[in-house]
Amino acid sequence: MDVAILSVSLNVYSTARIAEEFERAGHFVEHVDHTKCSVQLGGDRPEIYMEAENITDEFDAIVPRIGTTVTRHGAAIVKQFELNNIFTTAKSLGITRARNKVATLQMMSQKGIPVPKTVFSINPYNVEGQIELLGGAPVIIKLQEGTQGKGVILAESKKSAKSVIDTLYNMNTSILLQEYIADANGEDLRIIVVGKKIVASMKRTSGLDDFRSNVHRGAAVEAVQLTPREKFIAINATKHLGLGVAGVDLIRSKNGPLLIEVNASPGLQGIEAATGINVAKHIVRYVEKHGRNSRKQF
Ligand SMILES: Nc1ncnc2c1ncn2[C@@H]1O[C@H](COP(=O)(O)OP(=O)(O)O)[C@@H](O)[C@H]1O
Ligand SMILES: [Mg+2]
Repeated sequence: MDVAILSVSLNVYSTARIAEEFERAGHFVEHVDHTKCSVQLGGDRPEIYMEAENITDEFDAIVPRIGTTVTRHGAAIVKQFELNNIFTTAKSLGITRARNKVATLQMMSQKGIPVPKTVFSINPYNVEGQIELLGGAPVIIKLQEGTQGKGVILAESKKSAKSVIDTLYNMNTSILLQEYIADANGEDLRIIVVGKKIVASMKRTSGLDDFRSNVHRGAAVEAVQLTPREKFIAINATKHLGLGVAGVDLIRSKNGPLLIEVNASPGLQGIEAATGINVAKHIVRYVEKHGRNSRKQF
């Protein structure tokens, strides 16, 4: 197969690992920087270019690894491949939904997947009321499109919550407010789903001086056994969002698992190290199963 990895850079562990496993399995892989892609509409048929090269018919499948800064353009390029009937490991709609935590949580709660109590608003005149909807402080305040724990704030008192929320509303930043799940104990679960199957899962534990268990914040990682309910949530969240490959994040509360977010381009370094599982190879197998056939629908 000819496979494109859509990513800004190949010099990232996860992208490099995926490329390596495709090559090892005998496929041809090309790195396509989606920020250098253009789509031409209005001709005989839509065409996709990478700089001057016409890549419309080059690939049997694409693996989008769309970063956080150019999601909109990246999703539009993925959409064009989809419309041209090229198999993708992540649909453009799924990428867009997963990028925004509010969009993800809205969809999850509609599908009956448990999420932490969450409020979103832009109304600066009843901040107190919004905090009360969550049962008061402490509360978590999150940027709707943050990643790597960078946009996640724990406000321990109502006073500090109010001032932070006021500030963010005044800056026109899209945020959400969430109950703080203290029983999570600085831990969360990262579950990798590939094509309706769970291929690896780990527990991430934050350092003593943080509540955020992101690998980028130095969390410790270890393989973990999932309950049937956790497996069910991870597989269904991925399916409902429209992703073939996803990293689903859950926290364990005393009332059961809660979904906090889904990543459309999950990092592989932490999970491969924690579990010893070749996640990249699972992605290759998944693409092998679907890549060629999708062409036949053309
Ligand atoms: N409601 C919450 N209660 C307790 N801890 C939370 C809550 N939401 C997030 N966290 C912690 O903060 C981390 C980062 O939050 P997350 O929503 O995943 O944002 P990001 O996209 O930046 O990773 C999580 O991995 C978890 O450890
Ligand atoms: Mg996260």
